[in-house]
Amino acid sequence: MENMKVHHVGYAVKKLEKAVEAFERLGYISGDITEDTSRNIRIVFMENGHERVELVTPNGVSTPVDGVLKNSGPTPYHICYEVSDMPAAVNELKANGWMVIKEPTPAPAIGDAFVTFLYNRHVGMIELVEIK
Ligand code: NI
Repeated sequence: MENMKVHHVGYAVKKLEKAVEAFERLGYISGDITEDTSRNIRIVFMENGHERVELVTPNGVSTPVDGVLKNSGPTPYHICYEVSDMPAAVNELKANGWMVIKEPTPAPAIGDAFVTFLYNRHVGMIELVEIK
């Protein structure tokens, strides 16, 4: 497996603007809000030096993020790792006990880079983003 670098930590939040303010007070700088209509969510990336967080909130319609918020409230819920070759990384993880829960799709909030979500029963969910 290639040495996967963390791209971001994803947070499920209820009030996007309030969450942005809270991270700004921690020294993070906000990007623009992306309305991801294919996933019915709103997303903001925020950076603090080499650290990056992704704030995700449901856009009024039922989404997988609703379940996270209902069970845990606002919380970090995934770590996203960079890979250089998505199909190769997915095949390797599948061979090591990971299950694909969302096939690779372009993510508008990351310049349409391909992202995939995978699940392992011992550690839960991770996201991969293909950075060439
Ligand atoms: Ni993410």
